[in-house]
Amino acid sequence: MSIKTATLNGVATIEIARPEKKNALTIAMYQAMADALHAARADGAVRAVLMTGQPGIFTSGNDIEDFMSRPPGGGSDGMDSPVFQFMRALIECDKPVVAAVTGAAIGIGTTMLLHCDLVYVSDEARLAMPFVGLGLVPEFASSLLLPQLMGQARAAEKLLLGDPFTGADAVEYGIANAVLPAGEVVNHARRIAERFNGLPPGAVRDAKKLLRGPQAEAILKTIRSEGELFAARLRSPEAMEAFQAFFQKRKPDFSKFA
Ligand code: COA
Repeated sequence: MSIKTATLNGVATIEIARPEKKNALTIAMYQAMADALHAARADGAVRAVLMTGQPGIFTSGNDIEDFMSRPPGGGSDGMDSPVFQFMRALIECDKPVVAAVTGAAIGIGTTMLLHCDLVYVSDEARLAMPFVGLGLVPEFASSLLLPQLMGQARAAEKLLLGDPFTGADAVEYGIANAVLPAGEVVNHARRIAERFNGLPPGAVRDAKKLLRGPQAEAILKTIRSEGELFAARLRSPEAMEAFQAFFQKRKPDFSKFA
């Protein structure tokens, strides 16, 4: 299993641990993270959740092998797939979720940060949402939230061109709270998560709901429309070319597509 979980001092930690594949997320890993979030929510001793990765890598995003062989969506089970279950559990989690971005956060690695409450980024991290370059579209309300956070022009750089950005940029855009030296980011995020032990859980829960509430419906609506396009695009010849190019370690050739 490439997801490690542990609960210590009121904090449920979900650690992505598949360093040999740069923490690429498989179907089983999404399911494990969804289960861990549900368990954290149900456990009265848990006051906050900490999401983290490995030194130098938070996650390289969805496992591209899975995208090719077992793409989510496309059938009636699209919205029930493990990736949707994980993101839904994250979005609906009524306890604070703190992220320690230990390194590169690509694709859903950046998308998920938009749905965490507090985000701390290593000074070595790069964030990127290279969906279009993979023949795909933005996902999980990033097409709604990114323009709101950073403005339409900069969101187009990140979502159309797939330009990477730094932790300092993420702080400037309002995606992250602070940049920390790589060796300190997890401990810092953990100390922040532990602060919820000293706060009244009911008030935290209600305040989190208020912070997220006004957008909740628009977010779910956007996730549905993005999800339909994403599922269709996963099966497109453009995406196939991009995925094959990744594994053949070459640049994709989109010149034949109109
Ligand atoms: N899915 C499946 N396998 C992945 C992966 C992914 N998202 N990201 C990395 N891997 C695998 C590589 O295929 C490689 O496997 P191999 O050792 O069997 O050849 C291994 O992890 C190491 O990756 P590599 O690319 O050699 O490491 P790197 O340090 O040069 O680059 C990244 C790291 C994260 C920049 C690079 O792996 C990358 O760009 N990954 C894909 C990111 C992406 O497009 N994600 C999808 C977003 S929707």
